Amino acid sequence: MDFKEAVESRRSIRKYTDQKVEREKIEEIVRLASFSPSWKNVQATSFVVVEDEEIKSNIAADCVLGFEYNTKTMNRAAALAIVTVKHGLSGFEKDGSFSTSKEDRWEVFDAGIATQTFCLAAHEQGIGTCVLGIFDEAKVREVLGLSDDTVVAAIVTLGYAEKAPAMPPRKSVDELLTIV
Ligand SMILES: Cc1cc2nc3c(=O)[nH]c(=O)nc-3n(C[C@H](O)[C@H](O)[C@H](O)COP(=O)(O)O)c2cc1C
Repeated sequence: MDFKEAVESRRSIRKYTDQKVEREKIEEIVRLASFSPSWKNVQATSFVVVEDEEIKSNIAADCVLGFEYNTKTMNRAAALAIVTVKHGLSGFEKDGSFSTSKEDRWEVFDAGIATQTFCLAAHEQGIGTCVLGIFDEAKVREVLGLSDDTVVAAIVTLGYAEKAPAMPPRKSVDELLTIV
């Protein structure tokens, strides 16, 4: 699969088969995500992959802020990749002060780039993903025993697609591009 095909054909997958995702594939996806750019190359983003059915069900049931659509997607997925960022690196100077007016928001920016690389790498390996933003960060931290300085940037569901949906409409280049 070349780059253009990968970008154009990746879809958010919310229906999965029962097939597990092979450990080597998960490792390869994370290896490719490690090539993502990051603030001063701090590489503060890492992934906790939840395969354990009980932990996955707990997150699906209790950590979705009542948004049951995400409960269903999580329960259908073979695994959840919890995208975590170590707080205090991206966007910060060595003395702990913020580098820019965006303050610590560079953390989730870094995580977003890494997440997109993760999703494209998964797609190239034949694995479907869906980025979930509606979840209860504090509860996810609690379920996984993550430290208070760990930002949970997103949850990505993983698995073999049962059905790939049609592409939602995209804006045209004219709408998206301004050249000055
Ligand atoms: C930051 C972010 C948060 C998202 N949160 C959710 C979510 O909570 N639940 C969900 O089903 N999809 C979620 N999505 C997936 C989007 O709905 C999806 O990317 C969009 O509709 C375009 O579809 P496509 O990914 O198939 O191109 C999220 C995507 C992003 C980037």
